[in-house]
Amino acid sequence: MALPATPTREFITGLPKAELHLHLEGTLEPDLKLRLAQRNGVDIGQSTVEEVRATYAFDSLTSFLAVYYPAMEVLQTADDFFELADAYLARAAADGVKHVEMFFDPQAHTSRGVPFETVVTGYHRAAAGASEKHGVDAHLILCFLRDMSAESAAETLEASVPFRDRILGVGLDSDDRGNPPEKFADVFARARELGYRLTMHCDIDQPGSIDNIRTVLDEIGVDRVDHGTNVVEDPALVAVVRERGLGLTCCPVSNSFVTDDMKAAEIAGLLRDGVRVTVNSDDPAYFGGYVADNYVALAESAGLTTAEVVTLARNSFEASWLGDSQRAAYLAQVDGYVAAYAASSD
Ligand code: HPA
Ligand code: ZN
Repeated sequence: MALPATPTREFITGLPKAELHLHLEGTLEPDLKLRLAQRNGVDIGQSTVEEVRATYAFDSLTSFLAVYYPAMEVLQTADDFFELADAYLARAAADGVKHVEMFFDPQAHTSRGVPFETVVTGYHRAAAGASEKHGVDAHLILCFLRDMSAESAAETLEASVPFRDRILGVGLDSDDRGNPPEKFADVFARARELGYRLTMHCDIDQPGSIDNIRTVLDEIGVDRVDHGTNVVEDPALVAVVRERGLGLTCCPVSNSFVTDDMKAAEIAGLLRDGVRVTVNSDDPAYFGGYVADNYVALAESAGLTTAEVVTLARNSFEASWLGDSQRAAYLAQVDGYVAAYAASSD
């Protein structure tokens, strides 16, 4: 009954997993961007897939966001949002994803005149059909843009109320600088009253990353932290995260684009310290890696054992916002996969 000592890509791909840090707008592959631009008559300034791909170049969170937001102008109709999400869900299924909680940025669309309802209608159609079509149980998390005002976030939250049953929780993304979590304390308190689950980005190596992590834990009371790897700077905070069983949604390949490395040592260290670390793809079309690529990159770089990779997959379900019985069923799928794999490699 032997598992491979070091995890192979094939083992990782088949391992049932949840993806918890994935921006739908970050799944816009160059070929789909070009096709939507042509269909909607939007001049994006490029006319081949290679030319579009060449624009996907950056070396910091700020330079990434400067490419990311303008690209969204090709998304205009509910069908466009549907196609974007449906293509991601097909790709995620091929990587062994069984459950996904997907971010979307309504303000990036409403601010350019696309109605909130159009965005939610398209994304929800893809999510609702994903179980039957792709074997993936898919949910939506509404993210506020932290570089817009708290008033705009509050308006967006109220606009979501008629769609409350289509949205699992709320998050916070975009540019950290000068936009700390406390700016949105009231909006998140109201979201909690509305029954939403809460998460916030605490991006990697930003000025004040560690202070932001402290604030989201102590003042906002989040259910999860996106990125959050800088928690290693404060062992007392690491202990808090571990004791509360809070999930950290780490994104190794993304880290290597917006900083100078994937933070493999930090992520593996937290995992080995018993923190509920998860591995995710963030913006896979831009960073060139879907979730299995992220597991493989981290495993290779940090020298993870197969057992540690299995813990990452278990953590992804443990840190998800599934109900207890569904969570137990997915954890049993992980155990069943591992047992069958071990038996077949005898
Ligand atoms: N951080 C901040 N904003 C983002 C990210 C991220 O990782 N991905 C997409 N928008
Ligand atoms: Zn992110």
